[in-house]
Amino acid sequence: MSIFEKITSLAKRRGFIYPGSEIYGGLAGTWDYGPLGVELKRNIKNEFWKHMVQERSDVVGLDAAIVMSPKVWEASGHLESFSDPLVECKKCHHRFRADQLESDKCPDCGGEFTEPKQFNLMVETYLGVAEGEKLKTYLRGEITQGVHVNFKNVTDSTRVKLPFGVAQVGKAFRNEITPGGFTFRSREFEQMELQFYVKPDMEGSMKWFEYWKEERIGWYHALGMKKENLRFKEHAKDELAHYARAAFDIEYAVRENGSTSPTADDVAWKEMEGVHHRGDWDVKRHQEFSKVDMTYFDEETKERYLPYIIETSGGVDRATLFFLMDAYTEEQMANGEERIVLKLHPKLAPFKAAVFPLLANKPDLVRLAGSIRDDLKQLWMIAWDERGNIGKRYRAQDEAGTPFCITVDFESLENNDVTVRDRDTMQQERVKIAELKSYLAEKLK
Ligand code: GAP
Repeated sequence: MSIFEKITSLAKRRGFIYPGSEIYGGLAGTWDYGPLGVELKRNIKNEFWKHMVQERSDVVGLDAAIVMSPKVWEASGHLESFSDPLVECKKCHHRFRADQLESDKCPDCGGEFTEPKQFNLMVETYLGVAEGEKLKTYLRGEITQGVHVNFKNVTDSTRVKLPFGVAQVGKAFRNEITPGGFTFRSREFEQMELQFYVKPDMEGSMKWFEYWKEERIGWYHALGMKKENLRFKEHAKDELAHYARAAFDIEYAVRENGSTSPTADDVAWKEMEGVHHRGDWDVKRHQEFSKVDMTYFDEETKERYLPYIIETSGGVDRATLFFLMDAYTEEQMANGEERIVLKLHPKLAPFKAAVFPLLANKPDLVRLAGSIRDDLKQLWMIAWDERGNIGKRYRAQDEAGTPFCITVDFESLENNDVTVRDRDTMQQERVKIAELKSYLAEKLK
């Protein structure tokens, strides 16, 4: 089984991610996050916000509309240039992205292809009620433009001074020709971005570009992604997007056979986040198309200018997928059995702990376990399981990535303590119920 198949299967089995609209046969390129997936994804977005907005004094946040005036997309260049080369098989009529094909014959039937033509990725939609007067517009193809059209609003309504950034997290939509690789290439997905405005000088702006590259890769390291699984890849001049002056991707090493060995050589490096130097492309184009003055007045130098933009643009779904892949571990236990465990960083784990009454048919145990669960729930997401034996409950929580399991047994009724089992080491220790919160707070840092 490939690592993609293993993660897809685990995600469905445990309630991380399901195919979109599954009972109707699915809708290609869409995915639904289940009870565990929504927590993992929310934790990733919260960590992004904490690191990029809350803990900094030079970044503010924003949440712009998904549907914007169609003029935005004209100005940003998306209507003209946001496309991929498409070919169609003359025999079976299946469509493919020309730049992703390995041969000049159709992989499905061996037929010949048409000449490639550019296919625009923007998803169209219509607003308004009167037939004939409906406004044709688009679901945003990137969350970026919502920030740039508000550049003036932010500088006029807050005390920000250059250099400063605006962060945003939200949905984007692309009519991808070949969605696939589980959630890797979807038609609806989420992005977490920073647009950082700096003085328009190339040397100074490149220092900020380097700074943000290191910040962003460091964020993934700090949340536990293995260093050997991350690298930078520079875009060659002919690969640069229409707005970019320089670009690096942060790539993740997908080890296709599911091997987690850092030395395995069957690695496919996949884009997870982009760091882009956008020059003054966006503010200049919006100034040109809206006729609104987008210049910034520099109090120090008394000059007006259009700022340069350094962008960090990460995919929340790709980060979720790669955090899952990175954490996925198959281990041989002392008794010879194999266990699958998600060694997620505690900050990302959907549940921080699970509480079990040793036996479901002993009301005293269930009552005490229930009160411990309710108490801990004031601080963290806490799972509950009373089915099957303890071994099975541990296996289920290992696959969910829950760092600690807390068992209430008969001794607990006498001694006011519980057994706490560590997900990674499988070590168990007795902890006083009164000290559980501080014990977990320390371990979950
Ligand atoms: N604002 C710049 C921008 O959108 P991008 O490289 O097109 O740049 C940024 O996208 C990130 O968004 C990618 O690195 C990836 O993580 C995510 N992304 C892009 N297309 C995606 C898709 N079809 N499905 C899932 N994630 C996607």
